Amino acid sequence: MSAYIAEMDRGGMQDRVDGIAHRARSRLGTGKLADYIPALADQDPNRFGIAVCTNDGRVYAAGDAQEVFSIQSISKVFLLALALRACGGELWSRVGLNPSGMPFNSLSQLEAEQGKPRNPFINAGAIVVADHLVSAFATPAQHIQDVARRLSGNPSILIDRRVLESEWQHRSRNAATAYLMKSFGNIANEVDDVLYAYFACCSLGMSCVDLARALNFLASAGYARCADEQFVTPALARKINSILFTCGMYDAAGDFAYRVGLPAKSGVGGGIVAVVPGKLSVCVWSPLLDASGNSVAAQYALELLSNELASNGT
Ligand code: DON
Repeated sequence: MSAYIAEMDRGGMQDRVDGIAHRARSRLGTGKLADYIPALADQDPNRFGIAVCTNDGRVYAAGDAQEVFSIQSISKVFLLALALRACGGELWSRVGLNPSGMPFNSLSQLEAEQGKPRNPFINAGAIVVADHLVSAFATPAQHIQDVARRLSGNPSILIDRRVLESEWQHRSRNAATAYLMKSFGNIANEVDDVLYAYFACCSLGMSCVDLARALNFLASAGYARCADEQFVTPALARKINSILFTCGMYDAAGDFAYRVGLPAKSGVGGGIVAVVPGKLSVCVWSPLLDASGNSVAAQYALELLSNELASNGT
């Protein structure tokens, strides 16, 4: 059993997490696997994991919380935090701050809006953010892998080469997105270099425990406990949470805000990370997705957690 589990508390939060895992399992079987790349289409649809990291650093986990999965678009949170640390607010002249109301890989607004993506959490926005990081770092993919390791305290986190290869072979839509933006002057580097950095980040393999710990800085006013560093300023953590709240769940952001009411980011690997500012971060993973690309069982688990925290006055 890993050191993470050894440090888990068995008090009220653990009972709560166990109860939520039990109830959320009733939603397994609903939705469909991501099938845009073969490497994700062969996931076990019955997996379910949840990990809560409270701001004192304790982790409460249940189900397949230690199993590594493809973080996909959850990586857009790392990308954004790093770009804002490296380049500050100049990013916002190239990427917007409003929900798109469109699927995450849609191209239709880009042409009409001169190649400026609506926000940093749709694919087009994350590709512009990746372009910033290609300009700022000699080896951006390596840098993000290192940051994920540092923030989670897990030195064995890796980019999954099989997923990366699959992303690269099926890159047509993201490549079209990047070239369209380049035609408007909104991509500075070679498209292949930018796409490689973007796909490498999507291909990071992490567990619910890793992600709950790595993104806890958003609940802790920017302080990353595992790394023992102020990773972003309190003001920046608040801003990132605001963008997560309005844009983190794509065209379902409004529905999710109504149901759950927390800043959150999903990925087509089936993971969702959510933040209760000042209290805790949580990651839930289950591979079957709804039509917007968000995990069905993970959303339900977060709804249960949010209801429990509210009724408990937490
Ligand atoms: O670029 C893509 O389309 C995928 N690698 C990531 C998309 C994703 O995770 C959107 N999430 N819900």
